[in-house]
Amino acid sequence: MRVFITGVSSGIGRALVRQLIAAGHEVWGIARREDQLEELNKELNSSKFRYTVCDVKNENEVRNVRQEMVTSSYFPDTFILNAAVDIEEPLPHLSAEVSRETLRTNLEGALIWVNLFIDHYLGKEHCQFIAISSLFAHWPDTSSVAYAASKAGLAMAFRSLWLRYREYGIRFKVVYFGPVDTGINPRFVNQAGEKVPRWVTSPENASRFIIKSASSSGHVFYHPWYVSVLIKLFGWLPDSFFETVTGSFKR
Ligand SMILES: NC(=O)c1ccc[n+]([C@@H]2O[C@H](COP(=O)([O-])OP(=O)(O)OC[C@H]3O[C@@H](n4cnc5c(N)ncnc54)[C@H](OP(=O)(O)O)[C@@H]3O)[C@@H](O)[C@H]2O)c1
Repeated sequence: MRVFITGVSSGIGRALVRQLIAAGHEVWGIARREDQLEELNKELNSSKFRYTVCDVKNENEVRNVRQEMVTSSYFPDTFILNAAVDIEEPLPHLSAEVSRETLRTNLEGALIWVNLFIDHYLGKEHCQFIAISSLFAHWPDTSSVAYAASKAGLAMAFRSLWLRYREYGIRFKVVYFGPVDTGINPRFVNQAGEKVPRWVTSPENASRFIIKSASSSGHVFYHPWYVSVLIKLFGWLPDSFFETVTGSFKR
């Protein structure tokens, strides 16, 4: 595969790059932290890995990456839109800045790649776009309301895109993850000596699941399995009741 991934400097994105490069695929990754990207590049030491420092909220930077890819004739067959922030908002205040940053990163910062690349593929080459969503697309989160909204918005946009383009050889897939052991939100980070709960998956397992989803003909994926059970069996419950029943799963 020839892959493009947003958010490769840590967590699931970083694990994904390692696994794809080890399997012989080509990867072009982006993120904001240059030191982390350089470190990853050094560790991989592979001509199959390319990276650019880019903030997905900055349209000029995004357009420059596109231009760089076009100039290098790097047209991916798989786009993995993984970059996101999850910023804790302590009660009772609500910050417009946090909402803006979250929506611009997680929703606009993913859709912009579809907007900028889709014309290249229409009627010519096959390709797929994979959105990384979350259980929080279906489960309101009082600690980060914009995060839940951004993940629901991204998933809905991809469901619409799937319907819209399914006759054009362009596939749109959504992967919904339950908790993954990364540092995306400080409240998810285990303290020294604390064991990772059994229901929290590792970034390596999460990235293996994305790679499997990339070669599957399906378009909606859940990981781990209980995410699908929670959403399908209990998703119809009133929010307050659902929260009471499932609250202990929330980290
Ligand atoms: N961890 C979980 O429990 C969990 C659960 C469900 C879904 N997910 C989803 O999984 C995906 C990966 O998250 P993760 O858990 O691996 O978290 P992470 O380790 O914090 O990774 C997030 C990545 O996104 C990048 N990023 C953030 N803002 C960016 C921006 N403005 N421009 C470019 N890159 C940006 C970060 O790089 P820089 O900071 O260097 O820019 C980082 O590489 C996200 O979509 C997340 O919503 C995670």
